Amino acid sequence: MSNEPSPGIEVVDVDLGERSYKVLIGGGLVGRAGALIAQYVGKGRAFVVTDANVGAQHLAALSQSLESAGGLRGAVTLPAGEATKRFDQLTELCGYILDAGVERGDLVVALGGGVIGDIAGFAAAIVRRGVRFVQIPTSLLAQVDSSVGGKTGINTPQGKNLVGAFHQPSLVLADTDVLSTLPDREMRAGYAEVAKYGLLGDAAFYGWLEDNAGHVLTRRDDAVRYAVRRSVAMKAAIVARDETEQGERALLNLGHTFGHALEAWTGYSQRLLHGEGVSIGMCLAYRLSEARGICPPQTAARVSAHLKAAGLPTRISDVDAETPPDSDEFVRLMGQDKKVRDGQLTFILARQIGEAFITREISKDDVTAFLAGEIG
Ligand code: GLY
Repeated sequence: MSNEPSPGIEVVDVDLGERSYKVLIGGGLVGRAGALIAQYVGKGRAFVVTDANVGAQHLAALSQSLESAGGLRGAVTLPAGEATKRFDQLTELCGYILDAGVERGDLVVALGGGVIGDIAGFAAAIVRRGVRFVQIPTSLLAQVDSSVGGKTGINTPQGKNLVGAFHQPSLVLADTDVLSTLPDREMRAGYAEVAKYGLLGDAAFYGWLEDNAGHVLTRRDDAVRYAVRRSVAMKAAIVARDETEQGERALLNLGHTFGHALEAWTGYSQRLLHGEGVSIGMCLAYRLSEARGICPPQTAARVSAHLKAAGLPTRISDVDAETPPDSDEFVRLMGQDKKVRDGQLTFILARQIGEAFITREISKDDVTAFLAGEIG
């Protein structure tokens, strides 16, 4: 088996010892998936998990490619949307995988956005006490964030992603061609996670994004590839140092504690996509940092100006809702976050663009007062 990168494909390594894997980035990967999986992962028949939207566009090409390489055990199409990430869907999915005769040497292939990657990865983590899986992320958000790093799981009435497992994929195929059919709103929402990498750790990349956001959002091939590769490389480096989020990996949650509260408030509906919540959350994190004198004046304005120019929401009042939550309710919703420890919220704040840090030093009273000012 050759481990040489194929021509025309960019490769990012995620170095995790025996759980190491590659992220391949480039065009035409879905149609070549069978051969690439055989080359990088090895033998095994595939079971594909997708959703109705993505499946209609890409399942036939993927199945054909898998069939002609290692073989296909079957495929299942789940309903599209965040609501699919729940226990009853997981139960059914595990049943489909087992009924298809998937064995320990086989693999689950997740073809879709973050929802499909999360639930298919979790099913792969638990059926037969774990089978290998391959991520084929089809949204920008999934390509730059959720498909890399091994977080898998589902939502429960208590909150988002509260049941799950770390289960690293064996390969990630980020096919940049499939982004051409992604709805513009989802492209923008994924872009928020791209901007996150610049904001949390790479000021030069953020500067590049300020100049090139239009090219990324209109899917100019070289710009999209660079944005995906730089984002994935940053994520891979952080995950390699802190696989199970004992410390540094929490930086990847910049904007997420606020964002998850907004998502909970809008009922995880189409009124606010995850990336949109992250966009508002990152602006709040920078405004809170500025209000506490942690980062220089005008930094937060630079962040929100860029995200607004990219077509993203930047304020709580941008959320489509009849009534905003009051600040106490907002803080209560933030308290559902996984990152609460000893009742203390964890925040990712910033000293400047490209330098985020983790803190548990912000009291609930201070956040409540800050949010009261934001809600107005
Ligand atoms: N999406 C944040 C992480 O993977 O850690």
